[in-house]
Parts: sequence; structure tokens; C-alpha cells
Amino acid sequence: MSNALLSSLFPQHLATMQAHAAEALRRGGFDHLAIPSGSLHYQVFDDRDYPYAVNPQFKAWLPLTQAPGSWLVVTPGQRPKLLFLQPHDYWHVVPEMPSGYWVEHFDIEVIRTAEEAMRLLPPAFRCAILGEPQSALGSYVPNNPEPVLQYLEYHRAFKTPYEIEMMRRASRIGVRAHRAAERAFRAGSSEFGIHLAYCQAAGQDANDLPYGNIIALNEHGAVLHYTSRDRLPPKPSRSFLIDAGASFGGYAADITRTYSAADDEFAAMIGAVDAAQLALCDQVRAGTHYARIHLDAHLRLAGVLREFGVLRTTPEDALASGVSSAFFPHGIGHGIGLQVHDVAGFAASDAGGTIAKPEGHPYLRLTRTLEPGMVVTIEPGIYFIDMLLDELKAKGLGDAVDWERVEMFKPYGGIRIEDDVVCTDDAPINLTREAFAAA
Ligand code: GLY
Ligand code: MN
Ligand code: MN
Repeated sequence: MSNALLSSLFPQHLATMQAHAAEALRRGGFDHLAIPSGSLHYQVFDDRDYPYAVNPQFKAWLPLTQAPGSWLVVTPGQRPKLLFLQPHDYWHVVPEMPSGYWVEHFDIEVIRTAEEAMRLLPPAFRCAILGEPQSALGSYVPNNPEPVLQYLEYHRAFKTPYEIEMMRRASRIGVRAHRAAERAFRAGSSEFGIHLAYCQAAGQDANDLPYGNIIALNEHGAVLHYTSRDRLPPKPSRSFLIDAGASFGGYAADITRTYSAADDEFAAMIGAVDAAQLALCDQVRAGTHYARIHLDAHLRLAGVLREFGVLRTTPEDALASGVSSAFFPHGIGHGIGLQVHDVAGFAASDAGGTIAKPEGHPYLRLTRTLEPGMVVTIEPGIYFIDMLLDELKAKGLGDAVDWERVEMFKPYGGIRIEDDVVCTDDAPINLTREAFAAA
């Protein structure tokens, strides 16, 4: 994959970032953005550090994800300045001097200690300092001004063509690894073994992946965030739900697939959820309320459950009574980009305000109206979760369900299918399906 393309797209990305920074600073009454890349965090009463996670406000400007202790200074009308920490250190790998398509657009100064940044940063009182408390250097303390953050985070929902290309590359890595994981499942691997096959094919592990892999066989598919990994395969290994992503230059892919070992009724139900998911992806269009897609997902999934004899009610009744939420108990998705769950999902404007979730749907993470450039996940699911099914019965809604059919499907856990979809002026672009088609 050529860096020529990224090289040609980056200047426009940077110009967009500069324009956003200028307006954000105007609103906050500051002259500069000062953005620390972030520092290492240590385990309590221990000298071991957690995997380093770069400040998203930092990596929004440049694809530098492993440079703790560095700073970025943005001043309207000037080239951005990178204070790049390259310590004299023989204990750890010292970050290499940056290279690549983006460096020519920055003034880069090497510092040898974190404290050296103080000498080169503009006066703190003139800066919006965006970062975590641990990044403070003496009196240089992140102030995270609300008007600045609100503006930047609201606009981060709209990806530049450069960012979409970065996400396309993350998707390709994720899809390559998903295919390796499916092969490992079909060869009879354990959850742990499938996880290793995934990491190997992605060339990424916990230090790089945008979130912890969910690798669930059989009933484990019913645990929404199942992150245990059995070391032995179940007998038989009936079904496989994998929610696993990949990173590229700080951008995330978030992908879920579900497989059945046999060509059985569960496989047919996966096919029906897949068809529903594709129809929902097609709703990712400018002007559509994302919450509408969420409610339509309930109707479509309840339709699938009725078709397979699990529900006895109409989709409309299942949504109105809350029965559909027992089988689809999470949101249809979220914004994605520099963070797997991108910020500002409820932002009413770039100056504040909140768009409420539909009543009875507390887990929806995005309520904004879709506009070109937004990238969202579409991840409908059907699960057989004892706790929620017991609640249905306790609420007196048990007649809506054929419990024998529930018992038949329970050993398979659940189904989720998740793609990352770009809203455009025209038809949506499905980054995940595109990558599967190319693989
Ligand atoms: N992988 C977490 C999510 O799908 O939101
Ligand atoms: Mn997701
Ligand atoms: Mn996911």
C-alpha cells in the first residue's frame, strides 16, 4: 500500500486540523494549543507500566502513537511544532527520529528529558493544554478548556479523506486477522489459540489493538464483552463470535463476525442477521438520525426472531414492550476513528448541548444526525442471555417467547455482525465489507 496516497492526502487533513484549532482557540480565548502525547502509567505499588495509550488529541495531528513525553504546539498561522522526546536511555527502546510523509509539515525539536519541554512551550496562561493530569510539568498543568474541547471533539466526528484512508488500512489488517481466526475456529482451536492466530495475522497484540479481543465459543457468545479465553476448546465447538479490531497509525477498525460450525439453523439465523445488518448499513446516509437506525434494528431483529420461531409477537409489539431489548440489549453502534468509541456521540453542537437517547435505550452511544464524513459502526446482535430472559418472565412478558426455541438456540450463545461504515453525500462506503471483498 502506497504512502504516496497518504502523502497526497495529509496536507488537506492538516489544513482542516489547523482551521479547527484556530476556531477552537478563538472560542476559548487562547493563543496556542499545547498537547502532551501522554505518559506511562504504573500499576499500583509496582514499577510495571501499563501499555502506553497516546493522547487522542495528539494523534489527531500526526500518526505518532509510541512517543510518550512529547508535546505538540499549535499556533494559528504557524507550522505546528513537535517537541519530540528522545531520552538518553539504555533500559528502553528510544523512539526513533520520526520519518515519513508527515514530518515535512512539522517543525521538530528533539528534547532529551520530559522537563526540557518547559523551556520550549509557550506561556501556560496563553495555552489550551489538552491532556491528562499526569502530563503536568511543574506549573504546566492541562486545563482542558470546555469550549476548546467541545469544538474539537464535535468536529472530530467528520473524518478527512486522509483519515478514511487510515481507517481503510486498519480495516484491511483486521479483516486479514479475522480470516485467520475463522480458519483457526474451523480447525478446532481453543479461544486462546484463536486469539493467538488473530494477533499473529494482524501483527498486533494488546499493545497495539484498539480494544481487547472478544473471542467467544458456544455459550460465551452471550457475554457481550467476553474477554476470558479458555485454553481448551469446548466439545463440540458449535459457534464462534469474534469482535476484534486493528489499528493503523492510531486509527481503529472494529469488526465482529459470527460463524456456525455446521450448516444448521443457527447458520441460517446468522444469514438472516447478516441481511438485516446490510440493510441497516444502507441507512448510513446524510440526514438520517442514528437513533432511527437503532430503533429500526430492533424491528428487523425482532423480525428475524419471529421468522425463526423465537418470538410470537410482531416486531412493533416487541419493540414497544421491551421484549426486543432482552435479545438485543446494546446500542446499534457508535462513532469510530481515533478511538474505537469516538467522542462526542451525543453532542448537539460544537458549543455544547446533548441529544438525548430514546427512552428505554440507555446503551446507545450515538444520537447525532448523520452527515458526510462521519464513520459509524453498525453492529446488530441477537443473544440468548439467561439474566435478561428471566427478567422478561418476571415482568410477565413470557408469553411473547417460544421457550423451547430459546433452549434450542442457547448453546450457540449469540450473533453479532459489525461493520465500519462511512456516511457520504451519496451511498455509504462499508470499509469492512470492502476489505473482506478484497481479501
Ligand atoms: N468492540 C467493542 C464494540 O463493538 O463496541
Ligand atoms: Mn463497536
Ligand atoms: Mn466491536
